[in-house]
Amino acid sequence: MSWSPEKTTVNSWNEWDPLKHVIVGVADGCCIPPPEPALDAKVPEDSDMRGQWGPRPQETVDAANAQLDNFAKLLEDRGIRVDRPDPIDFSQAIATPDWETGSGFGCMPPRDVLLTVGSEMLEATMSYRCRWFEYLCYRPLLKEYYEADPKMRHEAAPKPRLTDADYRPDYLSDRIGVEKRLEWTADKFFVTTDEEPLFDAADTLRFGRDLVVQHGFTTNLKAIDWLQRHFPEHRVHAVNFPGDPYPIHIDATFTPLRPGLIMNNPDRRLPDDQRGLFEKNGWEIIEAARPAHNSPPPLCYSSVWLSMNVLVLDPKTVCVEASEVNQLEQLDKLGFEVVPVPFRDAYAFGGGLHCATADVYREGGCEDYFPHQPREI
Ligand code: ALA
Repeated sequence: MSWSPEKTTVNSWNEWDPLKHVIVGVADGCCIPPPEPALDAKVPEDSDMRGQWGPRPQETVDAANAQLDNFAKLLEDRGIRVDRPDPIDFSQAIATPDWETGSGFGCMPPRDVLLTVGSEMLEATMSYRCRWFEYLCYRPLLKEYYEADPKMRHEAAPKPRLTDADYRPDYLSDRIGVEKRLEWTADKFFVTTDEEPLFDAADTLRFGRDLVVQHGFTTNLKAIDWLQRHFPEHRVHAVNFPGDPYPIHIDATFTPLRPGLIMNNPDRRLPDDQRGLFEKNGWEIIEAARPAHNSPPPLCYSSVWLSMNVLVLDPKTVCVEASEVNQLEQLDKLGFEVVPVPFRDAYAFGGGLHCATADVYREGGCEDYFPHQPREI
């Protein structure tokens, strides 16, 4: 399949083939959502965000947008087509017949909502009430792709009810303590129950025929089963990372860089019994360099490990946040062309360079990178 900027085609099977068309989020109107069951479990206990909600200060929105626009331009200058979502009014209260909440969230991280697998773009169920309607920001683009590409498949996972039955009341306290949280996450006792399939797209990594999905706060086992049934030609693997007290999205924990090479967060090690898939197929799992910062920027949900949230442009080129000097150096030593991108002002709006993007087109097809499957090992 050959790429042409004039012709829209949806095609992306992995995280590293040459990127030609991508969605980059925007920070406009982003809100800190009010408390709700899933969100309370997510906001770190010592976070400056606890107890406050509402639209984010305009000067922080402007600073984030300046970095998002700069990132989009940098990609365009490299010949990559960039599209942007249409924000809705996130400050509106949201209701379904089952619940209501005071506001939405934003559309800076398209990776959370959209999972591109081959010619399909799948809208995730999401797992917070404040994010229930976020898919609407991407509908104008998905409509355009659907109309332009006769092979594009626009899919949406079953909309979840998100009643209280989806959440464990044990997580409602803000005084659980990190030790208890680590015990719970090691036991796979997460805030979400298996009442119905729940997943955020950013818990899935694409490796051609194999999809690797983090079981954690935002993706439950029922959703991993749903993904397997939805993608019957794929092999779907559940993974979990016991060292993470807030296991939300896989892309600051496990980062494939090129065929055969993955970075793993050294504080959130993939358990030994889940390494077979990679090791028996000749993939190397290296420890990521430690972050350059001791704390995240103000009003940020994510951890300092957004240092690992890099965007691979092709198997030799990777975008890394400009102040993450340790990560820049590690990837440089591994032989990558490293493109520094200032992005720390955007972190609070939903994550790093991988979170802020969603693939539309990468070159290449569906390869089998793991011919030896765990059941045969
Ligand atoms: N939940 C991920 C982290 O903050 C993005 O590490």
